[in-house]
Amino acid sequence: MVGSESRYQAFLDALGQDRLRRELTTVTARDARVLEVDGRSYVNLASNDYLALRFHDALIAHAREWAKTYGTGSGASRLVTGNLDLFAGVEGKVAALKSKPAALVMASGFQANAAVLQALFDKTILGAEPLVFADRLNHASMHFGCKAAGVHQLRYRHGDAADLAELLIQSQGDSRPKFILTESVFSMDGDQAPLPEIVRLARAHDAMLIVDDAHATGILGEGGSGLSDGADLVIGTFSKALGSFGAYVACSATMRDYLINRCNGFIYSTALPPPVLGAIDAALDLFPGMDDARNHVAGLAARFRAGAQKLGYDTGASSTQIVPVIAGTAEAAVALSGKLREAEFWATAIRPPTVPQGTARVRLAFTAAHTEQDIDGLLDALGAAAPAPAKAVSV
Ligand SMILES: Cc1ncc(COP(=O)(O)O)c(C=O)c1O
Repeated sequence: MVGSESRYQAFLDALGQDRLRRELTTVTARDARVLEVDGRSYVNLASNDYLALRFHDALIAHAREWAKTYGTGSGASRLVTGNLDLFAGVEGKVAALKSKPAALVMASGFQANAAVLQALFDKTILGAEPLVFADRLNHASMHFGCKAAGVHQLRYRHGDAADLAELLIQSQGDSRPKFILTESVFSMDGDQAPLPEIVRLARAHDAMLIVDDAHATGILGEGGSGLSDGADLVIGTFSKALGSFGAYVACSATMRDYLINRCNGFIYSTALPPPVLGAIDAALDLFPGMDDARNHVAGLAARFRAGAQKLGYDTGASSTQIVPVIAGTAEAAVALSGKLREAEFWATAIRPPTVPQGTARVRLAFTAAHTEQDIDGLLDALGAAAPAPAKAVSV
């Protein structure tokens, strides 16, 4: 092995011993409901394509049309020659959707959180290290952005507005700029942040509220507009319910201008390609009218939660299309995922560090492509996989 490679290998070996080693599985997906692995078909319960839009004719046609007209790549960063005229239309639609004066398209959700938070928390601009109050279960990309900015996060108990209030009160005399950082719907738990209370706290303590609406945009809220009401700045992705790729920031005109001038992930990265923008543009037109699909997905998730709880499984505080089946140890989660696979349901075991120790789980995500029969078959498979794992510890 060359140089430090033996150390990387030792790290991998240790992960393997703890059943925490991650591996890539090659899949084939030709529609939103089913995927194939090694020639065998599974109902796909592990995709964030909540509205099943990634195979929708309108998105494919628009992607194709814009590829044909504008090419397959944007050629440069937006500050060079990549600011294609297509962006203005897409950003106008996102700003209207989020009731904000402006929006800025970014390369991906991870990149947006990593780069935008780094720029916003810049001590040299703010004059001091900001106080960043963050939900303990925020997505890895938000932690990454905070780390890149060199800020220490003040982490409040997951979904606990009273704990956040306590921390804010403790810092009342502190004149440093304050930010509150939360997801609207938590990606691994499918529960919702108590946003009305958090908005009230943000206003009372003069804190800027940043909400990651990745798992609500398109699928939850009025007309699928998401659950970010009251946020000062919203970050979200086009990669989940909107069926393609890329991300957005919705904010004031000043914040948009600031990011264009200070956000390295925006400045030094090639603009999204026209076919992707075409798919995004079509999805933005389509999803507001998809209430039937949204109701269908909500009904499937409720049906599943009720059935799983009856079988003795712990589905946490899920109230959305994302439902965890909390198994406890990594081993138990992997075993449960394996049992579901035997019954031809594909659901991934999520283990630490993605989720806290003791709360490893199988994460299920329901989409418009699933049927009630799928849910009933899944519940049968869960029933056959008994005994239900013990209740998990709360975080
Ligand atoms: C809350 C949250 N934010 C951001 C991301 C990253 O988004 P993307 O997949 O577009 O990079 C994800 C998805 O993994 C997420 O769950």
